[in-house]
Amino acid sequence: MTAKVSSDGLMEEIVGLCKRRGFIFPSSEIYGGYNGFYDYGPLGVELRNNIKQAWWRDMVQRRDDIEGLDSTIIMHPDIWKASGHVDGFSDPMVDCRESKLRYRADQLFFAPVIVAGETIGYVSVVECPQQQEIAEKAAADIKRKAAKQGTLEPIVLKDYTESKPEEYDLVPSPATGKPGSLTAPREFKLMFETKVGPLADDSAVAYLRPETAQGIFANYKNIVDTGRVKIPFGIAQIGKAFRNEITPRNFIFRSREFEQMEIEYFIAPSADWKALHREWIDTCIDWLVSIGLPRASITEDIHPEDKLAFYSQATTDLMFQFPHGEQELWGVACRGDYDLKQHQEHSGKSMTIFDEASKEKYVPHVIEPSLGVDRTLLAVLTAAYTIDEVPNDKGKVEERTLLKFSPKIAPVKAAIFPLLKNKPELVERAQALYQKLQRRWNVFYDASGAIGRRYRRQDEIGTPFGITIDFDTIEKDGTVTLRDRDTCEQRRVTEDQLIQFLEEQIDG
Ligand code: GAP
Repeated sequence: MTAKVSSDGLMEEIVGLCKRRGFIFPSSEIYGGYNGFYDYGPLGVELRNNIKQAWWRDMVQRRDDIEGLDSTIIMHPDIWKASGHVDGFSDPMVDCRESKLRYRADQLFFAPVIVAGETIGYVSVVECPQQQEIAEKAAADIKRKAAKQGTLEPIVLKDYTESKPEEYDLVPSPATGKPGSLTAPREFKLMFETKVGPLADDSAVAYLRPETAQGIFANYKNIVDTGRVKIPFGIAQIGKAFRNEITPRNFIFRSREFEQMEIEYFIAPSADWKALHREWIDTCIDWLVSIGLPRASITEDIHPEDKLAFYSQATTDLMFQFPHGEQELWGVACRGDYDLKQHQEHSGKSMTIFDEASKEKYVPHVIEPSLGVDRTLLAVLTAAYTIDEVPNDKGKVEERTLLKFSPKIAPVKAAIFPLLKNKPELVERAQALYQKLQRRWNVFYDASGAIGRRYRRQDEIGTPFGITIDFDTIEKDGTVTLRDRDTCEQRRVTEDQLIQFLEEQIDG
């Protein structure tokens, strides 16, 4: 039997497991933590590296049309002026003057409470899957307290960016439940500033990059000039990005320091960008499925044309069913020639390319698949987290928690166990196999405790294969027991069969 935990408790359980087993810790925990920052422990760093390596292998190394890049986090501040980030990269925020809490205006929802055609108050709620329910309950309370007779009209929630000045004093703060303390929405800059060099004045201001994409545009000319690329081609980069998010939340879903895996895919202005956009969306979905996300939990959110930035031709977000609801995982945007033209204008350097095939010179257009490493890791954990029931050593059915990671990205690929730790011949053989496998993969050796308990410990951290050395191994045919994490099925294999199997499952 396999059971998924309810979505309410799922995030809590994932956070607990991540802490308990050394995947993810709150940053600076001994000082009480630091909101919006997380550290990756021994298993977390393996999982994270495996996700990045899988992406790099599939998107860069296994393709002839994509080159890699690693640009600096701090770049010339003019890059962020040209890209529009200095003036435009902000979120609308609203402060509660009484509680001192700060909300993102587009995540704060409100509605008038209208009874028999008369507005008798307002309700407000912070964005969540149950927001409509919460707002309706609050509206019914207001009606009851006001002892107002008549029909309560349906509650139509709008986000606070749509509020009118005359409503600012009427909408209650979600923190206090009372109206009068919320400010008007104000733009809040998301880029972290720092100073570079010995001067402390404004000329020294620089920024921690809020996306890796601009490092790609800034190096586009270098890569074109090295002469290895021809249209269409992409440049890929994995690296840290920083955003002073107003409301970092939902564990590593929205943090202030995170990592991105981005591609800028340059195409001819005359190319069929809609078809290429579709191709990229499909490539991205296939990749997510290849690392173990169920196809059914990925959907597409096509941005409506009237909500697109002026330079954008189309954007589709790949959404994933996270524990806190369906949310953006991967953005695939068609950005036209906006970025390169901006850098051409601000730097004075030509961004044109000569297209050998068409004999034309132009500034290419771009398709941008942009994915967060940390969000992918949370999606992978969400999909993998499972509770089922299996018999223990004595045949009694017990509940177990397991992470059903794909072998490709599992932090530990296999665990090697001597059946008994006090039998030197078993230990020696198990150690030899462990050392052999360790040269290729991250594997684990465990000799302590009952074999069933050793399996459970590995199940909980998502190790796909358990390999046990027993008396048949040394006394009979040299075969070992290979146990599958998900089915618990065991079969005997020779060492050669084992290695071939692991190669197919892990590297295939
Ligand atoms: N260059 C385009 C760009 O940066 P974005 O939608 O702002 O677009 C792309 O970010 C991806 O980066 C998102 O789909 C998400 O996976 C990840 N991401 C963005 N902000 C994040 C945050 N605060 N914490 C974790 N991941 C984030």
